[in-house]
Amino acid sequence: MKNLLNISDINQNDFEKILQFAEDLDSKTEQTLTNKNIGLIFEKNSTRTRLSFQVGINQLNGNFIDVRFEELNLNRFESYEDTFEVMSCYLDYLVFRTTDHKKLELAYKYFKKPIINALSDLSHPCQAISDIYTLKEKFGTIDNLNIVWMGDMNNVLFSLLEIIGFTKNTKIDVFTDRKIYLQNKDNFNKNNHINFHFEINENIISKANCIMTDVFTSMNDKEDKEKILSKFQVNDKIMSMTNEKSVFMHCLPAKIGSEVTEDVIKGKKSIVLTQAKNRLVAQKGILKWLST
Ligand code: CP
Ligand code: NVA
Repeated sequence: MKNLLNISDINQNDFEKILQFAEDLDSKTEQTLTNKNIGLIFEKNSTRTRLSFQVGINQLNGNFIDVRFEELNLNRFESYEDTFEVMSCYLDYLVFRTTDHKKLELAYKYFKKPIINALSDLSHPCQAISDIYTLKEKFGTIDNLNIVWMGDMNNVLFSLLEIIGFTKNTKIDVFTDRKIYLQNKDNFNKNNHINFHFEINENIISKANCIMTDVFTSMNDKEDKEKILSKFQVNDKIMSMTNEKSVFMHCLPAKIGSEVTEDVIKGKKSIVLTQAKNRLVAQKGILKWLST
């Protein structure tokens, strides 16, 4: 049975199929999800992920059911285990955004049908797939690219470092604070395509195809990281180090003035709206892969 809890749930063949399905489907409609009922549970806020799944399911002729988390009997005394088991009597797939990745693992155990992680505290695989799709669209390849990541070691970075394993020679340079690195390093994928730095390095930034960042403090974070990460803000000074072909990416929502300045996110190198648009394309690729 197929699932997408993390990028590690898919192999090279699955990855290539998802990208190909996404590219083929793009703005097209298809009957792939006819008679399929897909539950969407969001324990945390979402704009792009929720809407792109809803529209993607509509375009593939499926039915989505917005399960209102606060209305479930989970809020009274029913357990997650029983809730997921019961849901599998009605639903074909579950799209689940959760505060705790362990709940996704419970869903995997008890739902017994395909589950898509719509973001957890640990990972955001749908975003990584979509961002790789955007890089391919922009540069014509996913291989031999240089990506610079600025700021936090969070769920979006976790999945990006996983997905990079499907590329050839694409390199990621992560600029972060040493304390944040030490807190997180054991959970993160490491290989010789991934390098961590604690000081800005103009030479590395000048070679980047893409400068990527995300909020310094994520929805789940207990610690406010704005101050500790402030030197990794993507601003005009950082962008002036980049080459003429480089782009700026951010999964959104952005906290303007924190991890990125308004000039950069609204500037000519920014492709954040293309990224947002491609969430829909990528969701359809994922849904089709799950159904075939
Ligand atoms: N990038 C992303 O997942 O956005 P939402 O939180 O709005 O879904
Ligand atoms: N890292 C962010 C991503 C939001 C899409 C968060 O978890 O809040």
